[in-house]
Amino acid sequence: MYGRRLATIEEIIALVSPDSEDELSTLETWAADHEIPVHAVEVGDDIDDVYTPEREYLGVTLGGDGTYLEGVRQFSPRQVPILGINAGTLAFLASISPDDLTDALDETVRGGATVDRRQQLHVEGNGVDCTGINDVMIEHEPPENPVDRKITELEVFADGEFVGEYEGSGLAVSTPTGSTGVSLSAGGPVHYPMNNSSLQIVPLHTHRMGTRPLIVDADTTIEVVSEGSANLLVDGGRAQTRLEEGDTITISGADTSALVVNTSYDDDFFTSISEKLGWSVREDRHDHGDTDRAVETSEAEDVVRRAKQVAEDASKAAGEALRELHGQTESVEYKSDKSDIVTEADYKADNIITTVIENEFPTHGIRSEESDEQVGTSEYTWLIDPLDGTGNFAHGNPNYSISIALLEDEEPVMGVVYAPETDEMFTAIEGEGATLDGLPISTTDRTSLDECMLLSGYDPNGTFLSHCYQETRGVRSIGSAALNLCFLAAGSADAVWEFDTYPWDVAAGVVIAREAGATITNADGEQYDPIAAHETRNELVGSNGPVHEDLLSHLDDEQELQATQQTSAD
Ligand code: IPD
Ligand code: CA
Ligand code: CA
Repeated sequence: MYGRRLATIEEIIALVSPDSEDELSTLETWAADHEIPVHAVEVGDDIDDVYTPEREYLGVTLGGDGTYLEGVRQFSPRQVPILGINAGTLAFLASISPDDLTDALDETVRGGATVDRRQQLHVEGNGVDCTGINDVMIEHEPPENPVDRKITELEVFADGEFVGEYEGSGLAVSTPTGSTGVSLSAGGPVHYPMNNSSLQIVPLHTHRMGTRPLIVDADTTIEVVSEGSANLLVDGGRAQTRLEEGDTITISGADTSALVVNTSYDDDFFTSISEKLGWSVREDRHDHGDTDRAVETSEAEDVVRRAKQVAEDASKAAGEALRELHGQTESVEYKSDKSDIVTEADYKADNIITTVIENEFPTHGIRSEESDEQVGTSEYTWLIDPLDGTGNFAHGNPNYSISIALLEDEEPVMGVVYAPETDEMFTAIEGEGATLDGLPISTTDRTSLDECMLLSGYDPNGTFLSHCYQETRGVRSIGSAALNLCFLAAGSADAVWEFDTYPWDVAAGVVIAREAGATITNADGEQYDPIAAHETRNELVGSNGPVHEDLLSHLDDEQELQATQQTSAD
């Protein structure tokens, strides 16, 4: 999940430990100023009473790591992102100081925080069925007589394969996030937890030099069979049970991840482990991060470059919301006719993108297909189609996209088109070439129409299709004008024809296609101006360049044919 989406938070649920009243009152004052409702829930109570599935929430924990872990238990199954405030105690997970509470919240609702997906584990057996973000510990029970035997014997299987028998005081099975907890103290490795889906099995006090920690993929099913009595604790006791001889516990990666909000007020991972755990390999390199930040700051001064980054972030955040709704056709309503379907998705994507842009560039104008125009005070205006290919989207077809262009004095200078279902990001800045997922793209060099693959937009009489199909290698109608132009740019099509498109359909795609080498004109062969008439539809002809003249004369023939058909019909 991308932190940009947090710009559209509607409500906050705060999970509050008993000694965090001051932090709660700071949070409530801040939220009142921002007109965001806060629901305070005491640790130990359930959030169900205040949670409504359709709303966009931020979960805030006020307390130490215990409160944070309780937050993970309650927020993660509902995929609510969690911001942890460390109210007073030494904490590793809840790492924002109360002094930074309001700054961290400001950054979060501006869309400036990031959200990490953290692998969780799922534990099942002997009355336990739960998830945890840190670890499962299976430990010997202290004997009644202190001089009695103090070890457990645990048999471990990975996906049914016998791993071995662990003898010692027990085992810790931890997630990457939990690798800095109890398993570290037992000699386990530190995992960098970002984008890390794995589990590790770490023996506790094994008394054997040759028994080492074992790392497995999070999809692996670990079975632990107890050969005697032992205690099992998940996340330090958030769930627990007592095992007897022969009891079996199953541990695997959980299906849902915990969504962890990271702001600039949190320490980054390696700073945390350096400062809190004495990681000693970067002591002389404290300036490293600052140097990186200095480079970022100077790049941020370039409006267009920064705009491209913001457009990529915003489109990914909106893309995530669209992926969630994709195929859910229940909420479809009709604008004016069947080909102009607007869904809840259009508005949701529009809200995310425009809020992020407003926050980052308050002086810029914004024109989006789905909201009223905001006139800016600078030379920059954004032109957005938050969902191009709504018809496809509503029918569960994956060919839809998000199109975001930046205009400088009404000239498109930057374009971003994101295809959520294939996770493809097409971008271009005028004069700097076009890219797909960061790699340069260019149009084809075919010179003859009969070798070309064509893409067509809305073709009301089907004449373009029937006329051009035999003359070329084929005509495809994909249903997203923005994607059509990107496919031309990337060379999977040689030419594109749009009978009539709005500026927001094509402004970003035109920058991308032109930067990849395409020629884009109107039907008369004049330079295509996507902005010329704001609210009107225009015909567009795009090609790799070499076949452009041929295509235009072909279209002439085709238009004559259409006119003839029309006359005979009259
Ligand atoms: C439509 C699509 C379609 C094109 C139409 C557009 P929408 O946009 O781009 O491919 O042929 O002209 O209106 O309504 O899905 O945003
Ligand atoms: Ca469109
Ligand atoms: Ca649209």
